[in-house]
Amino acid sequence: MIELKQYAKNYGAFQAVHPLDLTIPTGQVFAMLGHNGAGKTTTIRSITGLTRPSSGQILVEGIDVWKEAVKAKAQIGYIPDRPYLYAKLTPRELLRFIAGVYKLGKIDAKIEEWLEFFELSEFGNALIETFSHGMKQKLTFITAILPQAPVLVVDEPMVGLDPRAAKQVRELMREYAAKGNTVLLTTHSMPLAEAIAHTIAVLDHGKLIALGDMKTLKEQTHSLNLEDVFFRLLEDERKSHEHDAPRAVGV
Ligand SMILES: Nc1ncnc2c1ncn2[C@@H]1O[C@H](COP(=O)(O)OP(=O)(O)OP(=O)(O)O)[C@@H](O)[C@H]1O
Ligand SMILES: [Mg+2]
Repeated sequence: MIELKQYAKNYGAFQAVHPLDLTIPTGQVFAMLGHNGAGKTTTIRSITGLTRPSSGQILVEGIDVWKEAVKAKAQIGYIPDRPYLYAKLTPRELLRFIAGVYKLGKIDAKIEEWLEFFELSEFGNALIETFSHGMKQKLTFITAILPQAPVLVVDEPMVGLDPRAAKQVRELMREYAAKGNTVLLTTHSMPLAEAIAHTIAVLDHGKLIALGDMKTLKEQTHSLNLEDVFFRLLEDERKSHEHDAPRAVGV
């Protein structure tokens, strides 16, 4: 479970995320949607303890992410929006390193299973720097899922994956949540969110403008699919702000 309590983040005078209360429960795939710059990655970086909230508190599995950083991070598997993989390592070396960090013990058989699953076994001893974009993305996914942490946080999971791998990742995220874990993802893919998310949150200019399951959001906006929901919500949000357009200086 992930809990945001009056979480907010500003960069200098710029308010990237306005105070936000949000609970992402166990057993769910939770999708965060929103335009470029809406505040999704900022929120995720705060949840994973990479950036300090300007105010408020974030708990992961009941642990304060900033106060008990190491303990909290042990609860999280994470795929960042721009993954960094050590180029001079091989996948097997990298995954053993990850296993060490998470104190996973004897995990070699599991590593082989995951490499096999993503058709990377024959490249297990090649340098990561020789990998294609999609191969790196698959490997990044393995680094996040290998620890089987109770919370999986994925910032744009599908970028660069071929259709087969995209399907595998989609099913994995669903199964991961069904096992009693929490899965939080951001995506610009409406079909993906519609296919796997139990709950959807829409951020706009750092504010939560909608939260609910697909059925509720469709009913609320009289929409047939998530793309319609998304555009109607944003349109309503624009209309509600038409009155407070900035005034010319001196008027
Ligand atoms: N380190 C930073 N310093 C200053 N401003 C930042 C920083 N990181 C993010 N921002 C700003 O915060 C806002 C939210 O950015 P964020 O990366 O959270 O957006 P996003 O919703 O993930 O967008 P995208 O869909 O493009 O990934 C943007 O206006 C961005 O310019
Ligand atoms: Mg982002």
